[in-house]
Amino acid sequence: MALRAAFTAALVLQANAVWLAGVNIAGCDIGMNTTGYYDPEDSYGGEYGCPTSVGPTQMQHFASKDNFNIFRLPVAWQSLVNNDLVTNELDATFWAEYDGIVQACLDTGAYCIVDIHNYARWWGGIVGQDGPSAADLAKTWSQIATKYAAQPRIIFGTMNEPHDLDINIWTATLQTVVYAIRDAGATSQMIFLSGSNYANAVSFPTDTVGGGPTLSSIVNRDGNTTNLIFELHQYFDSAGGTQTYCNDAVAAQIETTGDYLRSIGRQAFMAELGGGNGEDCVDIICPVLDVLNDYGDVFVGWTSWAAGNWWPDYELSEVPDGDADVGIVSSCFAPKFAAGTS
Ligand SMILES: *[C@@H]1O[C@H](CO)[C@@H](O)[C@H](O)[C@H]1NC(C)=O
Ligand SMILES: *[C@@H]1O[C@H](CO)[C@@H](O)[C@H](O)[C@H]1NC(C)=O
Repeated sequence: MALRAAFTAALVLQANAVWLAGVNIAGCDIGMNTTGYYDPEDSYGGEYGCPTSVGPTQMQHFASKDNFNIFRLPVAWQSLVNNDLVTNELDATFWAEYDGIVQACLDTGAYCIVDIHNYARWWGGIVGQDGPSAADLAKTWSQIATKYAAQPRIIFGTMNEPHDLDINIWTATLQTVVYAIRDAGATSQMIFLSGSNYANAVSFPTDTVGGGPTLSSIVNRDGNTTNLIFELHQYFDSAGGTQTYCNDAVAAQIETTGDYLRSIGRQAFMAELGGGNGEDCVDIICPVLDVLNDYGDVFVGWTSWAAGNWWPDYELSEVPDGDADVGIVSSCFAPKFAAGTS
């Protein structure tokens, strides 16, 4: 109730600004590849695991310096269940570590997205298709929802960047997950739902590629869609978010996605968007944030990619340097949020 009341108030008072803005705090996902293989040791010598100590410090920094009020906390499904979907029980040792980061997020007063960062996959198999069953994913989510059923500022990020799958079967899989979360007692928190094509925001309105029209059929137990929010991502280089340059000016296409959301009466959250710190990225990303603010009735907010436990030369690192934010945060993300909410 409290969450919905606050949400409604935000919509009424700030119709031309997003309500939530913040950053990803990566680390518990590092070593996951797009086919759902998870090997942090092999990838980076195990050096960049969960942001157990840097995450809380960074979240305090962003909350106090930039007024950010949401953090996304990516995590490998394998870690949550000790790489065992037969038993499929939350691993107590890992859970204590991950939940410590979640609690540090909540302590800042922010909303906190639990993001299973598996690309709809588990060791190469697609959930509900040629991999684990929909019930397997639902069982893991049911346990997480039970833990956080009483916490209104937890958001269930059901799956990061699904891609190359049957959108109709995937929609049915997510429906199973939504029921499991609601049945565990988390009846009113936001649940984020991604279609296909790596949650790409521009292609979302298309049925076969983005999956928006198909995904729209997912409902709560009583048939409504309250707090079922679409999760979208967008990068601005022609290499899919791996480079520091920006050359893809998509503000007009994001408007089209906003128009689509208005036409179906639904909302979305931009859970990843990012770029380097040069003027080329400032010139492309700031206007996109203007669009998100202008469409604040349908775009709930954004979390940029990414701070957290990164190695020093990671291309899109938003790890603060002492009290100083990187260029794209200080030039776009923080001021656009402050401007939108003042
Ligand atoms: C993911 O990792 C597995 C195991 O190392 C490898 O076989 C596969 O090619 C990788 N896939 C991608 C897209 O990187
Ligand atoms: C929508 O469904 C949820 C979950 O079933 C329920 O708690 C809520 O009261 C419903 N909201 C509305 C506005 O009907």
